[in-house]
Amino acid sequence: MDMIRKQASATMSEGVPDNPLGEKIQYASRDEIADLQLRRLKWSLRHAYENVPHYRASFDAVGAHPDDLKDLADLAKFPFTTKDTLREHYPFGLFAVPREQVVRIHASSGTTGKPTVVGYTKNDLKTWARAVARSIRAAGGKPGDIVHVAYGYGLFTGGLGAHYGAEELGCTVIPMSGGQTKRQVELITDFRPDIIMVTPSYLLALADEFVRQGLDPRSSSLKVGILGAEPWTEEMRREIEETLAIDAVDIYGLSEVMGPGVAQECVETKDGLHVWEDMFYPEIIDPETGEVLPDGELGELVFTSLVKEALPIVRYRTRDLTRLLPGTARSVRRIQKILGRSDDMLIIHGVNVFPSQIEELICADPRLAPHFQLVVTREGRLDHLTVRVEAARGSADAETREAASRELKKTIKAVVGINTRITVEEPLSIERSQGKAQRIDDRRPKPA
Ligand code: DLL
Repeated sequence: MDMIRKQASATMSEGVPDNPLGEKIQYASRDEIADLQLRRLKWSLRHAYENVPHYRASFDAVGAHPDDLKDLADLAKFPFTTKDTLREHYPFGLFAVPREQVVRIHASSGTTGKPTVVGYTKNDLKTWARAVARSIRAAGGKPGDIVHVAYGYGLFTGGLGAHYGAEELGCTVIPMSGGQTKRQVELITDFRPDIIMVTPSYLLALADEFVRQGLDPRSSSLKVGILGAEPWTEEMRREIEETLAIDAVDIYGLSEVMGPGVAQECVETKDGLHVWEDMFYPEIIDPETGEVLPDGELGELVFTSLVKEALPIVRYRTRDLTRLLPGTARSVRRIQKILGRSDDMLIIHGVNVFPSQIEELICADPRLAPHFQLVVTREGRLDHLTVRVEAARGSADAETREAASRELKKTIKAVVGINTRITVEEPLSIERSQGKAQRIDDRRPKPA
């Protein structure tokens, strides 16, 4: 095991001499980035192959050996990992280090089947904290800022991931976690944080609570929201920035790959999320064929970890749909804002529908509030989609609602191409989530 530790730290320290925030690599040339990635990828594949029986067997099965990786494109020869792979090896079967070296466990909520379990060594926690510190920095945060963390603490990676990253940057952290909405607003008012880290949907619930307490959400101390863990659109960004008078930037991540801080939007450009490519190697594949797609094309995002010790992950299929784009504010590549998860895609009368498409149209109408839910039912053999959405405050009279509902139905038909039923409801009638929003309420009978 000492070998592994030595290999890991050797890999992590070689290459571009850098500071803990990785400020050199973010702006390095593409050649320097690719060079570092190749060296780290070789280490990571070997680490997985030598220490995780599953990887050895799955590489052997397709005749791929870590020594075959001569350049980055050779990664395509290696097999994918999926959520099912993690479930099959529940709980600790994919760990590449003895359990005693795993100092932290996180797990997904596991609403269907077994939860997926992930583990971290001390070095992994350091890497993760640095990735999040870098993200907060790119979002405009700096040492000394007060950061209110309203992502849930616990098995979910959001709370603790944000927490350690903010501490790593040298911020004052308020570990509020999710829930206790009234208290959240009181503490924001009293402690005067500069930054809030929270899901975009819960931030809107907090904005409602400000109003309920007779406070103007635009006059809070908050300057930046670092928002993620669920898809949200440009229109939602506008809505949030307008409601709270803050800069709203996107943070992406997933527990299997690390947690929050895999990619981050820069506050100066707000044009998609820069991937911390020295830690996580991204690919975009065709979700049907598994073939790697060129940069710029829409497909499923896949990640391979480059420096993780406890749970190296090779070609993990995220199910998130996006495209890879060249860097702008940094030289590392960007991903476009996530369109949605392939599992959240509804197929209504043969048309693919993502909640984000409906969100865009709702946010564009000032008579509607950005709180909505998509209810799918089956009548006879046909699926129906009902969009439940709230009227904006001040638009609650029957006539305005009726007009907004007619128009939304028409634009959804024109833009998305499906017939829907729309119910425009009272403000605050749709249940608020305190973490990830539950946009889809699928009431179709489950297959036996
Ligand atoms: O949601 C980690 C996280 C916490 C990210 C806090 C950002 C902020 P999981 O619970 O494993 O981890 O869920 C990962 O959430 O595959 C995406 O489908 C979705 N997701 C995460 N961030 C974004 C985002 C955390 N910025 C899954 N935009 C991912 C869209 C996101 N979807």
